[in-house]
Amino acid sequence: MTSTEKASVVVLISGRGSNLQALIDVSLRERQFSIAAVISNHADAYGLKRAKNAGIRAACIDYRNFPDQDSFDDALIENIDSSKPDLLVLAGFMRILTPRFVQHFQGRAINIHPSLLPKYRGLHTHQRVLDAGDKIHGCSVHFVTDELDGGPIIIQSRVPVFANDNEDTLAKRVLKNEHIIYPMVVTWYAQKRLRMRNDQIEFDGKPLTQPLILQDISDAQNPLPT
Ligand code: GRF
Repeated sequence: MTSTEKASVVVLISGRGSNLQALIDVSLRERQFSIAAVISNHADAYGLKRAKNAGIRAACIDYRNFPDQDSFDDALIENIDSSKPDLLVLAGFMRILTPRFVQHFQGRAINIHPSLLPKYRGLHTHQRVLDAGDKIHGCSVHFVTDELDGGPIIIQSRVPVFANDNEDTLAKRVLKNEHIIYPMVVTWYAQKRLRMRNDQIEFDGKPLTQPLILQDISDAQNPLPT
């Protein structure tokens, strides 16, 4: 990227693509980054339609068409690289990433996860929060490493959990926050305010030793319980 060019990102999805839509909207509104391609591992992912509607290159690489993980990885890496992105953005991409893949995009791949990591890595985070009786939940954006949902955390947004919440109401509250923080992080990366150096996050030129924390930025009417 030269100083006059916008940062370009490739987004990996597997389904609905609501985070992708939030990224598309902010990229069009604020023009800090452009989305060069959206790639899904499922042909019927609704996010592919969102990409096409926005005039973005949309591709599907279905792992069932490949004999093994290595050849799937090769095809995925090649397809991503053909867009020469500055940043790879995982937005609900439901595949375990191999060390080879992670290594290739080291320091320039981020993921969003619907929990306050390191709590609740993996799936079904909202139900697990309800089952545990937690009063606070949220979402995290982190750099991607070999460890599932385990890389250095950039930012977290916290939301309250109410007594009458169910999986759906809680998921919606968290998702509203995801749609705010993910485009925010991509914008920071595009503005070169955020980067990984020597396995350490740098934000505004200084090491980020703790994740940035936001409190339910989607809904001022629902403050966190004290
Ligand atoms: C989001 O909750 C995200 O945090 C998780 O998968 C979900 C994707 O939703 N990784 P969408 O496809 O962006 O609507």
